[in-house]
Amino acid sequence: MHIPVLLDETMHWLRPRPGGVYVDATLGGGGHAEAILERILPGGRLIGIDRDDAAIDAAARRLQRFGEAVVIVRDNFAAIKEVLARQDLQQVDGILFDLGASSMQFAEAERGFSFQESGPLDMRMDRRQSTTAADLVNRLPERDLADLIWRYGEERWSRRVARGIVAARPLETTEELAGLVARSIPRRAWPRGLHPATRSFQALRIAVNDELLNLEKALPNAAEVLREAGRLCAITFHSLEDRTIKHTFLRLSRGCTCPPGTSACTCGGQRWLRVLTKKPVTPSPEEIERNPRARSAKLRAAERIATTE
Ligand SMILES: C[S@@+](CC[C@H](N)C(=O)[O-])C[C@H]1O[C@@H](n2cnc3c(N)ncnc32)[C@H](O)[C@@H]1O
Repeated sequence: MHIPVLLDETMHWLRPRPGGVYVDATLGGGGHAEAILERILPGGRLIGIDRDDAAIDAAARRLQRFGEAVVIVRDNFAAIKEVLARQDLQQVDGILFDLGASSMQFAEAERGFSFQESGPLDMRMDRRQSTTAADLVNRLPERDLADLIWRYGEERWSRRVARGIVAARPLETTEELAGLVARSIPRRAWPRGLHPATRSFQALRIAVNDELLNLEKALPNAAEVLREAGRLCAITFHSLEDRTIKHTFLRLSRGCTCPPGTSACTCGGQRWLRVLTKKPVTPSPEEIERNPRARSAKLRAAERIATTE
């Protein structure tokens, strides 16, 4: 089962209250959702969103005992506003994003997320989507593949990795790809404590699922549907995601950025949020010991302000 990361810290910042309406935008196995539901009953409601059918099934089983207090929706969180409108909800009290892939997705070899086991090069969170990791690995021109691995994996050996992939195509399994990436990076440059394919796998996963773009789309919509003093919490697992959260929170807390003295605003910037966590909240050593997946987790929180502020 997926062990929810930074659970106490998330409950502290999200502050779920009895009778409130909350959104878990990344339902996964339903761990965070369960903790929210335990705090919002009686009278509260939770809308859980995930784009992965397997996550939806697992969460539905785990949350069955909450009955009608929980509504589970298979969709992309970028469409959060539409999802809520379909439930006749214009405003909610809190929204949680626990980003990245779940340990259930990593654990199932045939999903293709893991370099630890052999599976097809898939990596789709939403299996209705057509593009898989195999399509990118086997079809992209070498230069585009190198750019992708550099941009989304911050892999400094991206050019060599892309060259290695192109020379060995077609690749079919995660095992083949992991071995090839490892052979493309000089052993002396292998990152300490990390499999040498970690960054390339991360890059492909982000690209297959368009993770950063979906997040950039979702955050302003999430800020908009929060009630005044409602909370927005986001847990990230790598620097690209954390940077996206940090910058978007800042942008949504800054409002108009037109130069001083401009007679009328032309940038359209509006203040939606107040950032609550100056620095990201990180897990305790005890949590990392219990759950090594928490190692790189960072939590940031913001609060919705009145739009007239
Ligand atoms: C880290 S897991 C969440 C785990 C969950 N908090 C728990 O306690 O079990 C992230 C989940 O978000 C889902 N996800 C990622 N991007 C998504 C998106 N754009 N729209 C909807 N779900 C998404 C993934 O399918 C995955 O199940």
